Amino acid sequence: PLYKSLFGLSSLEKELQNAFGLSRVIVVAGDSDHSLQTKRELGRAACQVLRETVRQGDVVAVTGGTTIAQVANQLVLSASAKDVWFVPARGGLGESLDYQANTLASTMAKRTGGHYRLLHVPDFLGEEAYSSIMGEPNIREIVDVIRSSRIVVHGIGDAKVMARRRRLKETDVAAMTEEGALAEAFGYYFDQNGAVVHKMQTVGLRLEDIVNTEVVIGVAGGKSKADAIASIMRFGHNDVLITDEAAATAIVEMS
Ligand code: F6P
Repeated sequence: PLYKSLFGLSSLEKELQNAFGLSRVIVVAGDSDHSLQTKRELGRAACQVLRETVRQGDVVAVTGGTTIAQVANQLVLSASAKDVWFVPARGGLGESLDYQANTLASTMAKRTGGHYRLLHVPDFLGEEAYSSIMGEPNIREIVDVIRSSRIVVHGIGDAKVMARRRRLKETDVAAMTEEGALAEAFGYYFDQNGAVVHKMQTVGLRLEDIVNTEVVIGVAGGKSKADAIASIMRFGHNDVLITDEAAATAIVEMS
């Protein structure tokens, strides 16, 4: 019966909240590995958290991916949330257009009557290209806006899946695997203890910006992401986690 599964979900929420010291956890029913409806529910729950969190004048940084796309497609904010800016958290990470952070930031702004700024640079740059791009006043300005975000909404992925999706070089993938990369979030790769492996120079949010962001909201589900989600929660800078029953159950069982 319904009350039983609701009770089950709220006890999963409490367990995750305590295990990772989070201020809020929402667990939706199902497994988004197998159900688009469940992924939509993840998006809907994230929208609700955003509606309660976003204040007038906020800058909200978002990452790409199919899960955050479900947030973008359903976002509604309260009328008092005026002059909200949506920006991509990072430069281009090789996602297809529909799922790029730029696309999702502009969708959110259009849906809610907010503003957006785009960042049209690839994220992985050599030293020289990095300094010359960051020397461009236009780029510098948007990067400064991104780094001032009060809220970050991000997806979480399995390291190997994301490395393949981004077509990283085989040698880089091998080096990362060697270092124990298990999870990916905001363009960084993490090992099972939530330590960053393979740190690199980046246009957009740096780790120190994420650490200093007031509200960090992770949205990810599916049993296949359980290890990755746990790893990002061990990184320890999330305030809110929105996940599904399949991932939550697997995380609770392994800890
Ligand atoms: O590439 C952007 C990104 O948010 C990654 O940081 C994350 O690992 C991935 O997308 C999640 O994608 P999806 O929600 O499609 O699994």
